[in-house]
Amino acid sequence: MLPVEIIKNKREGHSLKSRDIKDFVADFVKGRIENYQMSAFLMTVYFNGMDRHELLALTEAYVESGQKLDFGKFDKPTVDKHSTGGVGDKVSLIVCPMVAAAGASVPKISGRGLGHTGGTIDKLESIPGFKANLSLKRCLKILEDVGVFIAAQSRSIVPADQKIYAIRNLTATVDSIPLIVASIISKKLAVGAKSLVLDIKFGNGAFMKTARMSRRLARSLVEVANHYGLNTAAILTDMNQPLGYAVGNALEVKEAIEYLRGDKRAKDLNTIVMTLGAIMLRLSSVSNSLIEGKRMLKETLNSGTAIETLRKMIAAQEGDVRVIYDLSVLPQAPVVKKLLASTNGWIYGFDTCGIGMLSVELGAGRIKKDDKIDPSVGLVFPVKRGDKISKGQVLAEVHAKTEHEADIALKKLSQMITISTSIVRERKPILTAITAQGERRFMWNMEIL
Ligand code: URA
Repeated sequence: MLPVEIIKNKREGHSLKSRDIKDFVADFVKGRIENYQMSAFLMTVYFNGMDRHELLALTEAYVESGQKLDFGKFDKPTVDKHSTGGVGDKVSLIVCPMVAAAGASVPKISGRGLGHTGGTIDKLESIPGFKANLSLKRCLKILEDVGVFIAAQSRSIVPADQKIYAIRNLTATVDSIPLIVASIISKKLAVGAKSLVLDIKFGNGAFMKTARMSRRLARSLVEVANHYGLNTAAILTDMNQPLGYAVGNALEVKEAIEYLRGDKRAKDLNTIVMTLGAIMLRLSSVSNSLIEGKRMLKETLNSGTAIETLRKMIAAQEGDVRVIYDLSVLPQAPVVKKLLASTNGWIYGFDTCGIGMLSVELGAGRIKKDDKIDPSVGLVFPVKRGDKISKGQVLAEVHAKTEHEADIALKKLSQMITISTSIVRERKPILTAITAQGERRFMWNMEIL
């Protein structure tokens, strides 16, 4: 069928044939379909959605556009993890080495930051020398030797997604559930782990602003992944405040290393790390229950095997391993200024998306794909929603390149943290879990901590 007919059929609400979807995507990747035709197609999908067989065809078309990693000869179970993106989300830096130290293999392909959310690869590249662009052969070797790698997506993995995502970003078609599902699950299928846990964020710092939308997304992701035999579960997590304390690349690596050393742990970060980690171990059958998984994860922290696994991964990826014991190896911003509370009260809330954008303005992220980032800058929040605070207490730190930039950021930041004069309840970091069997409202966070 001609591309224009495919677009017209979809526009008129007809269900497309699998063959037509696959040809459309394959021809686009080969340059036989123009960007404007793909843009029109994406917009029809945005408005009309996709039925199940269309969504499966799109996911398969994505996978077929590139290469796959092959873990066939691994005797250890492989498990992957994916977050839909947040502010201060350094969970992968912590949980992947912990899960590897507990006995699973973790092949992790991660993204760079774009917009208000940070990216795991940018964070790791703040470690001097760290290399994220690895060949598939090298990824497999590190997985065998260390149990975990965290690499940037190469051009050979799902090129259709890379090309189409760039157009979605410019045509306001990112937040479409079928387009997100095909994009995420195809990459996970290409990486080839046997099980997967998804961290689906909702709230004012997430792409999905409401729990309702993130629940719909989670259900579709879990359904499609399990259809392909990828043993998958999801948790819905709160992104109405930065996760943990730090926002910014080197600052987040520092927080992750401190966590693994047992020095300093934010409660929300700890709940999410332990829950995701326990699910990863359970799905990959390394543990028999979440409780057992939690015990194994704690053991990796107490025995030092988690931080040792991170050290080995950094060494294998050519980073400066002194960072594990000497955080001054990380780039440090020349100016640090503090925001002090102007009144007594309780922390009511954060403009989390605004905070993400402020860290981008300081230089920690990108507006355009090719922007250069400054690994040293960012923000630190020692307080959380529900905390009782006194006048003069530190609410935030700004790490900036210049005094002037720090002063501008402080001014903006003072509008982004709301203080209440009456008691405020803290937020639960995890709302619920979605599994192939349906929604599980059991108290994972209580069970885990
Ligand atoms: N993350 C992805 O990998 N793809 C999307 O479409 C959205 C978020």
